Amino acid sequence: MSQARPASSQPGPGRPPNFAESKNRRQKVRAAGLDPNYWYPVEHSKKLARGAVMEVKFWGRSVALYRGDDGVLRAVENRCAHRQLKLSVGHVSGCNVVCPYHGWEYDGEGQLAHVPHDLFGKKMPNIKLGHHPVDERYGLIWIFFGDPARSGERSIPRIPELEGPDAWGSVLADFVWRAHHSMIIDNVSDFTHAYLHRKFRPFEDATLTKLETVDDRVHVSYDTKVGRGRISGLFVDRRKVNTNAMDLCYEYPYQWSNTDDKIKNYCFVLPIDEQTTRAFFLFYFKGFKVPVLPLALPRWAMNPLLKVAKRTLVAPLLEEDGVAVEAEQEGYNEHWQAPIAELNPAVHAFQALTIRKWEEYLATQSERELVKLGARGA
Ligand code: FES
Ligand SMILES: [Fe+2]
Repeated sequence: MSQARPASSQPGPGRPPNFAESKNRRQKVRAAGLDPNYWYPVEHSKKLARGAVMEVKFWGRSVALYRGDDGVLRAVENRCAHRQLKLSVGHVSGCNVVCPYHGWEYDGEGQLAHVPHDLFGKKMPNIKLGHHPVDERYGLIWIFFGDPARSGERSIPRIPELEGPDAWGSVLADFVWRAHHSMIIDNVSDFTHAYLHRKFRPFEDATLTKLETVDDRVHVSYDTKVGRGRISGLFVDRRKVNTNAMDLCYEYPYQWSNTDDKIKNYCFVLPIDEQTTRAFFLFYFKGFKVPVLPLALPRWAMNPLLKVAKRTLVAPLLEEDGVAVEAEQEGYNEHWQAPIAELNPAVHAFQALTIRKWEEYLATQSERELVKLGARGA
C-alpha cells in the first residue's frame, strides 16, 4: 500500500514540483536536468594551478577536480571511501589526491592507491571511486559528467575563430545565478526582453523571422537592431557588419549567436543544482574599428579593449539578465501553478527540446537513479 508523504515534501509555495510531479510544460522544464553525457565547462583553466584541488558540482553531484604536479587535470568522485569526507578539502600529492583525515590517497581514475597507516593485518582494500574525463579548451576546464566510456562520442564545441595565429578578439564572462538552467536558455535566445536592457541596447525592435527545430537544435533568427548602445556603436563598423539581423541557436546543451559571421557568442550553462546555474558567456569579434575614424583597430589591440569592455559593458549587461532570472526563479517557486502566459514561440521550442532530451536521458537510467533524479515517486 502506498503511503502518503509528509506534507512538507509535497509541492507547495517555495517547493515547486519535481519532474515526476510536473503537470505542464513549464513545470517540466523547470525541473528537468541536462544530459550529463556532454562536455560542460566548470572553471577557468587559470583558476586551478598545479597541485591544487577544488570542488565542482553538476546537478547536485560533487566532483573533486585537481591538477597534478604534472599539470594534468583529473576529476574523481568527491568522497573518500573511508569515512566519506570530501576529497576536495584534501590536497594533491604528485598525480594523486589525498584525503586530509587518515591520508588515503586516490589516483586520477579513483583507484585507492595508498593507505599510510597500519592495515591491521588486512590487505589493502581494492576501492575504486567514480572518475570523469577532463579536458581544457578556450581557457576553460571541461568535464564529461556522464558515462566515461561515451566521452568520445561527443566533443567540446569547436570554435575555429579562436584558434591559430589569426584568432579573433574574445571576452569570457561567467556568473553563478540562483536560477534553473532553462531560465537562462529562455533568456539568451528570446529577444522580447530588450526592455530589460534599455540602458545598454544590445538588441532592439526584434522581429522573429525564423524558428526551426532540427534534431537537437532550435534555430532562431531575428531582424533586430544589434548593438545600438552608445559605446558598442563606436567600435562596430556598420558599413562592414550587417547589424540588422542575428541568428541564434539552442544547440543542446549549448547556445550560440551569430551576427553576420563577424560577431559571435556562446553561452554554456553548468547546472549546479535544481536552482543554481553557472553561465559562461564567450563573445568573439572579427574586428573593431577605431572610434570616429574609418580605420580598423589592429588585432593586438582588441583583447586589451575587450578587457575594459568586460568591466564596463559586458558584465553589467549580463548582470541585468542575472537579476531577472534570479527574480524569475523566486517568483516561480511561489507561483509555479500560475497559468502559462508565454508569447514567443521560440521559448516553447527551447523548453520542448530540454524536456525531450531529459526524458531521453531518463529512459536510460535505472529505477533507483530515477528516484534520485526526482523522475519517479519515492
Ligand atoms: S576519511 Fe578519508 S582517509 Fe579516513
Ligand atoms: Fe539579456
